Amino acid sequence: MAGETKQTLESLPGVGEVIAQKLREAGYRMIESLAVATVAELREAAEIGEGQAKKIISAAREAAEVGLFVTADKVLERREKIGLITTGSAQLDDLLGGGVETQAITEVFGEFGSGKTQIAHQLCVNVQLPPEQKGLGAKAIYIDTENTFRPERIRDMAIGMALDPVKVLHNIYYIRSYNTDQQLLIPEKAEKIVEEEDVRLIVVDSLTSHFRAEFTGRGMLADRQQKLNRHLMTLHRIADLHDLAVFVTNQVLARPDIFFGDPTRPIGGHVVAHSATTRVYLRKSKSPKRIARIFDSPNLPEREAVFTITEQGIRD
Ligand code: GTP
Ligand code: MG
Repeated sequence: MAGETKQTLESLPGVGEVIAQKLREAGYRMIESLAVATVAELREAAEIGEGQAKKIISAAREAAEVGLFVTADKVLERREKIGLITTGSAQLDDLLGGGVETQAITEVFGEFGSGKTQIAHQLCVNVQLPPEQKGLGAKAIYIDTENTFRPERIRDMAIGMALDPVKVLHNIYYIRSYNTDQQLLIPEKAEKIVEEEDVRLIVVDSLTSHFRAEFTGRGMLADRQQKLNRHLMTLHRIADLHDLAVFVTNQVLARPDIFFGDPTRPIGGHVVAHSATTRVYLRKSKSPKRIARIFDSPNLPEREAVFTITEQGIRD
């Protein structure tokens, strides 16, 4: 579950005030972030030697692991609180087991124009719907890496749901992310809003574009995965701790030469595969139709759903 250790960085052996400060400045605010850092990363961040970096990482791993244990009744109690946000399409909701879940990361991946950003916009509106209309009566945070957020589209979608567009726009906290360093820090900033406001959805559109652009070439793959891993861990922790839905997008190339079954080379590969709770593959059909398929889920069947992108938003 939440798995957040309450320990401070300073409680780890080898971490004094000065080092703790340097680590925080470099984005390592939690024991969990240190637990997944590499020796090289820590050496650079805290200006320490290899031995000390190793010691800190292993202490962090130990501390983080202890924090992960909870009793099963607590697990059940948490699971019973899971909220669902409608996508606007009953078929797509059905495919997702009722809608987009809180306490989880939902990743949509697909080629350009497959509808990832449209669904992200729609969820920011729908999370504001009352529970009777399959919303959570709550606010949203939108982290935009590609400059494709369109408030005008939100307005149209709000009207399409018979909501007051002014209020709906006011309930979405928007931030641009310009590079990976910044992107890694944004979730923690977002958490401050989450602590003060009733936010039940965080969108990251796109999760992977900066990582792909900045870490090119084979030699940088490990570094990229490591950073993406840390980013996802933070998002996971926030989703769990604050009972909110994290919705991330991931562009992949269409590969018409390969039959479905191995459709993708999602950027982020295994890391995303292991951290995302639900993965949805989107592909274009005869416009305005789109086809969604659950990918690699332990508890959802591998079925397909058809939805459309209309003037009012996502519909069946
Ligand atoms: P990339 O970010 O490029 O990878 O694509 P994406 O998967 O995010 O695609 P996106 O969600 O932006 O989908 C774009 C498609 O949505 C367009 O091709 C249009 O068909 C549809 N669309 C976007 N805006 C509107 C709109 O205002 N009205 C209608 N009817 N359709 C729209
Ligand atoms: Mg997009």
